Amino acid sequence: MIRGLGRGPRRLQGVGQIARDGEAGHGVGAGLSGPAIKPIALRMVYDAAHAVKIPVIGMGGISAPADVVEFMLAGASAVQVGTASYFDPVATETLVEELTAYCREHRIERLSDLIGGLLTD
Ligand SMILES: Cc1cc2nc3c(=O)[nH]c(=O)nc-3n(C[C@H](O)[C@H](O)[C@H](O)COP(=O)(O)O)c2cc1C
Repeated sequence: MIRGLGRGPRRLQGVGQIARDGEAGHGVGAGLSGPAIKPIALRMVYDAAHAVKIPVIGMGGISAPADVVEFMLAGASAVQVGTASYFDPVATETLVEELTAYCREHRIERLSDLIGGLLTD
């Protein structure tokens, strides 16, 4: 889901689901997150980056340097890490270190050069 396309940067939420609690008889909110939703999230970032002129922040299953690069190529100006932090509380710090090494290895001078690299008309 894309929460709000109004003023200022917005971000992608997890893939939402409304279930019905059989016993209580009312709806309950739930959401799928982590690696399983990455392909969906990537597509949503790509579509959102086409649709708006404000920065798009990508999220959904990001845990490795290649994930960051993919989201930025799809149009994200920045990314957010959620579920990976539940597996490992310092996942983000580790990712920043790994990303630095990844960029050096792949001769990426500035991450910002990647933004929207996959955007086509
Ligand atoms: C335990 C948990 C709580 C979350 N709470 C919120 C929330 O309060 N508001 C919100 O917009 N998104 C919330 N999310 C969604 C995340 O911000 C994120 O969009 C989603 O988890 C996909 O990214 P990820 O795969 O890196 O976790 C929550 C996700 C998890 C796993």
